[in-house]
Amino acid sequence: MTERTELTVNGLAVSVRSDHPHLLAALREELNITSAKDGCSPSGQCGCCTVLVDGKAIVSCTQPLAKTAGKSVVTLEGVDATERGRFAEAFSACGGLQCGFCIPGIVMRAKSQIDKKGDGLDRASMAPHLGAHLCRCTGYVKVLDAIEAVAKGKSFEPALGAAVGDAGVKYEAAALTLGDRGYVDDIRLAAPDQQAGDGGMLHAALHFTDHARADIQAIDTAAAAGAPGVIGVFTAADIPGALRVGIIYKDWPVMIPVGGRTSYAGDVVAVVVAETRQQARAAAERVDVTYDVLQPVTDPLTAIEPGAPLAVWGTNDNVLSRSAYARGDVDAGLAASAHVVHEVFETQRIEHAFLEPESTLAVPSGSGDDRTMLVYSGGQGVWDDRDDICRVLDVATDRVVVELVSNGGAFGGKEDMSNQAHASLAAWLLDRPVKCTLSREESFRMHAKRHPVRLEYWAGCDSDGKLIAVRVRAVGDSGSYASVGMKVLERAAGHATGPYEIPAVDVEAIAARTNNLVCGAFRGFGANQAQFAMDGVLDRLAVAVGISGWEIRKRNVIRPGALWGPGQIMDDGAAGAEACLDAIRPAYDAARAAGKAIGLGLGLKNSGLGNGFREVSGAVIHFRDDSRVEVRHGWTEMGQGVHTVALQVAAQELGIDPARIDVIVDTTRQLGFGQTTGSRGTLMAAGAVQQACVVALADGCQQGIDYHGEHIVDWTAKLGDPDHPTPTIHAAFGYAAQLAIVDRDTGKVERVVAVHDVGKAVNPLLCAGQIEGSVHMGLGYALSEDFPTDPETGFPEFSTLRQLGILRAKDVPEIEVQLVEVPQPRSPYGIKGVGEIGLVPTAPAVAAALHDLDGVWRAKLPMRVEPAPD
Ligand code: FES
Ligand code: FES
Repeated sequence: MTERTELTVNGLAVSVRSDHPHLLAALREELNITSAKDGCSPSGQCGCCTVLVDGKAIVSCTQPLAKTAGKSVVTLEGVDATERGRFAEAFSACGGLQCGFCIPGIVMRAKSQIDKKGDGLDRASMAPHLGAHLCRCTGYVKVLDAIEAVAKGKSFEPALGAAVGDAGVKYEAAALTLGDRGYVDDIRLAAPDQQAGDGGMLHAALHFTDHARADIQAIDTAAAAGAPGVIGVFTAADIPGALRVGIIYKDWPVMIPVGGRTSYAGDVVAVVVAETRQQARAAAERVDVTYDVLQPVTDPLTAIEPGAPLAVWGTNDNVLSRSAYARGDVDAGLAASAHVVHEVFETQRIEHAFLEPESTLAVPSGSGDDRTMLVYSGGQGVWDDRDDICRVLDVATDRVVVELVSNGGAFGGKEDMSNQAHASLAAWLLDRPVKCTLSREESFRMHAKRHPVRLEYWAGCDSDGKLIAVRVRAVGDSGSYASVGMKVLERAAGHATGPYEIPAVDVEAIAARTNNLVCGAFRGFGANQAQFAMDGVLDRLAVAVGISGWEIRKRNVIRPGALWGPGQIMDDGAAGAEACLDAIRPAYDAARAAGKAIGLGLGLKNSGLGNGFREVSGAVIHFRDDSRVEVRHGWTEMGQGVHTVALQVAAQELGIDPARIDVIVDTTRQLGFGQTTGSRGTLMAAGAVQQACVVALADGCQQGIDYHGEHIVDWTAKLGDPDHPTPTIHAAFGYAAQLAIVDRDTGKVERVVAVHDVGKAVNPLLCAGQIEGSVHMGLGYALSEDFPTDPETGFPEFSTLRQLGILRAKDVPEIEVQLVEVPQPRSPYGIKGVGEIGLVPTAPAVAAALHDLDGVWRAKLPMRVEPAPD
């Protein structure tokens, strides 16, 4: 007979199985209490699972169940309704959440502190208590605003924004704050006729390779198949359709078959399905694989040398891509320059560390030729997911619907499929619902990272500091599979000259395939790496000329009509770069006058895919007979607020109460147009929803009709195309100037001023929150974050969140955001986009401030002048 543990949960006496690995598992898996989230169990390092045990806040994923026997556990579900309301209102009104995944845990921590200290709690005294919590979205600024407001008894009347430009609350903010709006792993099925618990839902776990480059000789699944609770074990031999998937190139095997070769630490060899997650994970360890181990290719520079061994199975070249362009005579320009800088910059690999690990639930229904499947995904491109799932299953695309479940953070790391194909395959073959949720360590191994890039720069200017010529040679380690690595290095090439006007330019950027972790999309998408280097050479030239960092930027900043980077003639939106510089000048001068060490970064980042890609965004407005209005669009909500943008646009254009609007993303309407990436969601969604509203209004907004709208961008051209000497490679850019202010006594960054030209802030509250979160991420990039791989094995050296070096709340300096609005031509409402630009100028600003502090030029990230948090 199964042993049981008795405890009180939310005031009720309960009895749960004693074999749960920790309290969190008992709450989530047996009691179906899902406000406590699982971001890293059982390591206890994210705080998402925080609950109260006998009144004390603890992380429940490290709490052995036996230790809670007889105790009183309170989760957010059990908090008094009035108190819940106060937290929900404060977090909503203050903008204290984005994806929301971390917030329920933070609310429980805040509650325990407020219970102790009452209105004596303020943001300064609360910040150290958030040391047990990670938030990857907000930079903690508005989180602390909200907590202080609750402690002080401040009341709010939060409301959705009714128009473009309103600082309304985020769509679903209250439910997210309280943990009531579920993520994929929170979904519970209720179908009493099914065989196992939770509506017959089964759990899948993946068996990953032991080697980054090895031939698979045999896979023995017998021991796993015979393990307790196991329902099925599947390998590549069970895949009915395509073995490989991928956003751009179909080169990423869903599983490596016998006779195949592994190419990175995240390769999957088998899927094990069992009645519980614990059983599936235990059985997955019992899959026995025989390898012929090969030396992995881990150095990108030697990987692209002639004769280097081929890194990746099924490919024929270690050069994934080469992006190049040139204009003007760079050699002559450098020779004629009064000052020349030659420097090699190196940036590091970075883990996204979104708080919600990847999770997919696949639910088949029907039978025979009518059999279909609903897949719940948190991916950044649900249409791409659907198409690849159908290729793997060898079924038509009308057999599978993928529904977006707004995710717990992504930042680019959920563009590629992770476990979507595995969960779908198992569900399809077993004809049972199957959920697959990755552990934190598996998430680290599987999804694509930010590229480490080596950038060699030669740059020259005249005696006044006017740039004359720049040459760039860059090599990025793209890891094994393509993902969007070629596009990241293309973007690095395109942005290699930053927001500056330079007469002669010669740029080449190579994406190298290796057996390291896959690298792909991550907020900034190559622009961060390139502009850390470009601003670095500019600051070195400023010192040589004898002018300030602000002055050399003012003399070289790109302006409307000027020739930029690959030869693009900049439109009127480019006035935003100088507008940011001018706006930050008072803070720059004041900090300098106060004797602070200061550094300035100026950046630009494209919005949209550009480079000749025809971008189409669709939206549907649908009036239901219950008086609700559906706004359907195609973009993934991952905390950035695209649902709120769609809602505010629709409310304004239709002139209706925003509370009547439901925002929906699924693949039942053909609104597919690729990934939510490149800061394009706000711009493209707003345009499509606006047009759909125009169509609806013209027809009298009748019930039951799908009113379609589109926004199309089809006027960009490819970088390096000889037929386009002045190519418009991007349709829009965001611009930003950031000032890092360093205390000369402590050497710490004490304040960051972030001035951003966003074209039009659809929701200034959410927009500022995006920038604060970006600055937090940018400071980690500059100072403390890293994700190294072992050069001998290609495997990651880190397996826990704490090792990443993400700044905790108490280490985040004051962040002051100023929004500038220089409208973008040919863009709805003048929107430019803000998602990615946020951390582009941060690292160069910090590097310049540190040089001002100690006279040392830094060219390698992270700069680690401040110790990584313990
Ligand atoms: S899930 Fe418990 S601390 Fe992260
Ligand atoms: S809101 Fe904190 S992790 Fe997303």
